[in-house]
Amino acid sequence: MTRKILVTSALPYANGAIHLGHLVEYIQTDIWVRFQKMQPKERVSECWYVCADDTHGTPIMLRAEKDGITPEALIARVHSEHSRDFAGFHVAFDNFYTTHSDETRDCANEIYSRLQKGGLIEKRSIEQYYDPVRQMFLPDRFIKGECPKCGAKDQYGDNCENCGAAYTPNDLIDPYSTVSGAKPELRNSDHYFFRLSDSSCQSFLRRWTRESGRLQPEAANKMQEWLGFDENSDENKLTDWDISRDAPYFGFEIPDAPGKYFYVWLDAPIGYMGSFKNLCTRRGIDFDEYWKPDSQTELYHFIGKDILYFHALFWPAELEHAGYRTPTSVFAHGFLTVDGAKMSKSRGTFITAESYLQQGLNPEWLRYYYAAKLNNSMEDIDLNLEDFAARVNSDLVGKYINIASRCAGFISKKFDGQLTTTDAPWLKPLRDTAQTIAQAYEDREFGRALREVMALADSANVIINDRKPWELAKQADNNPEVSAQLHAACSEAIEAFRLLTLYLKPVLPKVAQAVEAFLGIAPLTWSDAAKPLAAGHQINSYTHLMTRIDPKQIAALVDANKATFSPAPETVAQTTVGHDDSISIDDFMKIDLRIARIVAADHVEGAEKLIRLALDIGETQNGGMKTRQVFAGIKSAYDPALLIGRMTMMVANLAPRKMKFGISEGMVLAASDPNGNTPGIFLLAPDAGALPGMRVK
Ligand code: 2FM
Ligand code: ZN
Repeated sequence: MTRKILVTSALPYANGAIHLGHLVEYIQTDIWVRFQKMQPKERVSECWYVCADDTHGTPIMLRAEKDGITPEALIARVHSEHSRDFAGFHVAFDNFYTTHSDETRDCANEIYSRLQKGGLIEKRSIEQYYDPVRQMFLPDRFIKGECPKCGAKDQYGDNCENCGAAYTPNDLIDPYSTVSGAKPELRNSDHYFFRLSDSSCQSFLRRWTRESGRLQPEAANKMQEWLGFDENSDENKLTDWDISRDAPYFGFEIPDAPGKYFYVWLDAPIGYMGSFKNLCTRRGIDFDEYWKPDSQTELYHFIGKDILYFHALFWPAELEHAGYRTPTSVFAHGFLTVDGAKMSKSRGTFITAESYLQQGLNPEWLRYYYAAKLNNSMEDIDLNLEDFAARVNSDLVGKYINIASRCAGFISKKFDGQLTTTDAPWLKPLRDTAQTIAQAYEDREFGRALREVMALADSANVIINDRKPWELAKQADNNPEVSAQLHAACSEAIEAFRLLTLYLKPVLPKVAQAVEAFLGIAPLTWSDAAKPLAAGHQINSYTHLMTRIDPKQIAALVDANKATFSPAPETVAQTTVGHDDSISIDDFMKIDLRIARIVAADHVEGAEKLIRLALDIGETQNGGMKTRQVFAGIKSAYDPALLIGRMTMMVANLAPRKMKFGISEGMVLAASDPNGNTPGIFLLAPDAGALPGMRVK
């Protein structure tokens, strides 16, 4: 029976750039898919690779707002950036779509309605934090406060980075919304839950996660831990899953539940279906054949180990109970470290796909290096920058490319580009390894596949070094016997090079394409391993296929990605040259500018222009918040009631000033036109995310 395969990679969020960490997965999946597409049609008749941008949710909504654009404009921009980056690394999706699509909406509605009919959706009221200023419910990651255990400030709503304590946002001391700075309030709201705790979900997942081939052994163990270890006990560890969010939210409104939206993680995996559906419509593929419950096709999800919960529990349970097929397997990989540590902006190792390409580095270098390190486990993989250069230079250029660059010229110059017979016995093992290498690719043991390929390259180089075609060439012109030896040595080397190219093609698609053009052959497929180039085959002239990595290129890449946190003093000095009234950076730094949250604002009786503000700049007194009183001349432009909760900036070290109405302990910053052409006073405000007390410089 011929295989029909549908493959996905996790959907990248539509609010950030693709970086080298993401690329581990896309390159891994792309290699596997390219390998499948090289198989004979009788074995694999179809293999489709789909992905999409993951476009919904609060962070994307807020990001668009911050950029002053609609979410639709944001996701359109990011979609074109992501498409450019994937193409740059030769990641060849059959469809790179978006979850903000009719297809995904239709599939989400269908799944939801089938789950509802099956009695697996339940509505209930829950209490949740609400930002009264921004007027929205707050996801946990947008709430910070003081750790209830160690007292560290500015800790997220779920755990403390200082002492490691885990808790809920309700436990935080002095919680605040990172969206507006306001104190969140607990409010009730109706939410929709997928009833994972139902016994049918439990028993299905216990069975499914143990079935052979579904999950890697370490992933299956993790799932058993989440489901409860003891198969005889009916201890229920799975709790119902909240799949709805309240407006304002960027996503799909739930049918017949106005103001309620599907949570982004509900429609994200459905985006795999949506993207495939879109492809089916365009290419005449039978969608149902791939998604019906008894489908004979295969479905594989490549993901990072951090999102196993969604793919190995929620997603199969949803599919099963909505009457669809479940994934054949979920393949999880580890995280990327660079030089043994988490990617870091300050060290310059948080490298975007765009900057890698802009610095002129070859994407196939990285594809090769990742492949050499990848296997079918969930272990992290390390990009060691020194080893990267060394391995690419020694393996790819030194062992592989060198075979062609040392031998091709003689075929062109001495034999008019024609090969002689290439059926020498030493090439047999190179041909016979095709199956072993294929199995390694199939098993996602890419490191093993490449070790096999490089061992074959080594054996070819031993033969070439023995025969020394460059020496033979010196005597070949007047000696037919030596000329024949040269012809055989170079023709066989070219055949070895063809075989190595075939084996490397899933990893190095562009090099393979160039080699196919150079050899004058049709695109290589796996069965071509058994079909040697014939005597008399005409090749084209050789042009260099790949350069070595110069370690300076890597240093420049790291430099380009180093985040700069403040301008170098020289830069400031330079830009101030020529101004009589210029101040030095030291003068400027004397002003202590702070982010302030307006906690209270009142009219001041008897004052025409003033509003009395109470400002939180992160100061405390006796364990509680200490506010600063500031009289600000902004009454003509602002209604005090509307100022409460807003963030602004203040000069915190201005000498206190005794005024008729009390002491003013600082000054808030506002803009106005000195010529009065544009009337008004405009209070300054920081970008979302700035917190009371942060220094401004
Ligand atoms: O973790 C993430 O980056 C998610 N955007 C992945 C979604 S994968 C799938 F479920 F859609
Ligand atoms: Zn703590």
